[in-house]
Amino acid sequence: MPSKALGKYLSHYRGIDDVHLEAFRLIKSKFKVESVLYAGSWIHLTPSLVFPYVVYVDFFAEMESMFNEPELLGYIRNNSETMKRPVIKFHKADYREGISEAKESFDLLISLSGGFASKYCKPYLRRGGLLFVNNEHYDASIAYVDSDYLLIGVFTHAGKLVEDKQRIHEYFLTKNNQPITLEMVNENSKKSPSKAKYKLKKKAPFYLFQKA
Ligand SMILES: C[S@@+](CC[C@H](N)C(=O)[O-])C[C@H]1O[C@@H](n2cnc3c(N)ncnc32)[C@H](O)[C@@H]1O
Repeated sequence: MPSKALGKYLSHYRGIDDVHLEAFRLIKSKFKVESVLYAGSWIHLTPSLVFPYVVYVDFFAEMESMFNEPELLGYIRNNSETMKRPVIKFHKADYREGISEAKESFDLLISLSGGFASKYCKPYLRRGGLLFVNNEHYDASIAYVDSDYLLIGVFTHAGKLVEDKQRIHEYFLTKNNQPITLEMVNENSKKSPSKAKYKLKKKAPFYLFQKA
């Protein structure tokens, strides 16, 4: 029987069969990514299977004990694809209030269904660094209307990154063919995505931005 934290991680994310894994591998093969900040991570430790240095942030109460759980850490270290033993760091914190990490120090920021991390954690991402994000909490839309981020790719599935400029921008057109604006994103974010006023024409599981 796996321990509590490992059991949770495996049942939610499936460990080495995690669907995100292919996307992380693809990013690593195309870009120079060593250090990663994952804001609103819960126990999604899959990035540490691929990247050598990952800082996780979550304010959920039980997280600290989960991140200290030897079986979960052992599973990640035993299955890691990194050359060196991966460094796994955790902050129990509200990322909106700041975290004790150096500004402009991370190569990749991950924001998956964990609030507006693209906005609050942008200072920690280096210039030219990447943002891997979904749109479940509108964070991809928020990045799209932020001039500090440039959309560079859309994952049509975890293993397929589309980079064609015209095609990727279509993902941020409303059903009336208007590019989404800050006002529209603000209006949308008052409601759940299924009730959004300005629905987007196309949806992808993940988006990739670069910080200017
Ligand atoms: C729906 S879960 C998503 C977990 C994981 N990112 C995934 O995609 O499976 C959202 C997580 O984000 C965390 N979260 C949301 N807002 C946060 C904030 N401002 N600071 C830290 N953690 C936050 C919650 O505690 C929760 O664990």
